[in-house]
Amino acid sequence: MKIEGKVAVVVGGASGMARATAVALSEAGAKIAILDLPISEGAKVAEEIGHDARFLPVDIMDEQVVEAALDQVMETFGAIHIGVNVAGGGTAKRTISRAGPHPLDEFRRVIELNLVSTFNLVRLQADRMSRNQPEDDERGVIINTSSIAAFEGQIGQVAYAAAKSGIIGLTFTAARDLGSLGIRVMAIAPSLFDTGLTKLAPPEMKAALVDGAAFPRRMGRPEEYATLAKAIVETPMLNGSTIRLDAAQRFAPK
Ligand SMILES: NC(=O)c1ccc[n+]([C@@H]2O[C@H](COP(=O)([O-])OP(=O)(O)OC[C@H]3O[C@@H](n4cnc5c(N)ncnc54)[C@H](O)[C@@H]3O)[C@@H](O)[C@H]2O)c1
Repeated sequence: MKIEGKVAVVVGGASGMARATAVALSEAGAKIAILDLPISEGAKVAEEIGHDARFLPVDIMDEQVVEAALDQVMETFGAIHIGVNVAGGGTAKRTISRAGPHPLDEFRRVIELNLVSTFNLVRLQADRMSRNQPEDDERGVIINTSSIAAFEGQIGQVAYAAAKSGIIGLTFTAARDLGSLGIRVMAIAPSLFDTGLTKLAPPEMKAALVDGAAFPRRMGRPEEYATLAKAIVETPMLNGSTIRLDAAQRFAPK
């Protein structure tokens, strides 16, 4: 799909990989809706991008607020062609520890934040995309965010790994569900990226975290996620897959 003139919803776009993607898609000529928490820098980022960007405050865990935000995007820009779903996060707890079994409510919260919220975004974005006039038979493209922890979760990542693996399964199956409508669904599985909390780590800690990478042996840059997201939008044969963005890193158990 050509990016120029399209409307992109970038979820988590106030920071990190999603922010870089919002900027890159805007530079390629898309109109941008940034969905992020009310306390985020979303308004500032939208202002920096310019008049074809809007900030819509949402908590992705709130089904109604997300639906209302997407309706607002439709009202403002008239369509949704691209969905980039990045917001998410984890917890660090083993299946059992000295404190006892992993709290089930915490496991559920991580599944809700990453997997259920992503599915809610996918179903609502796809519904709006289904109303688009097809261009080269295509109506829309959705990019979800997994993690290499989905493949080799580290000790203490059981909830996060389960949620991010779920995103891989949902991505392939949603691509099949939506194929007849000309809507593609892809996912990106990053290794460690220089964003959010990881950005604040001291250099020695960062070096240790990426020690297992082949090349480049450094944290990923948010712009590298954005470059891949743009390539996915522009390459119709990419569908249903989760692409590792990881410098050949495989997480060790800890
Ligand atoms: N940074 C990494 O090393 C890494 C590696 C693999 C996967 N990921 C995934 O990338 C995503 C995080 O992106 P980032 O690394 O660019 O981090 P980031 O902290 O820079 O950005 C995340 C954005 O998501 C927003 N957000 C968080 N919870 C939200 C909610 N409930 N509702 C709406 N917005 C919310 C935050 O406000 C923030 O702006 C997560 O899904 C994470 O699992 C990150």
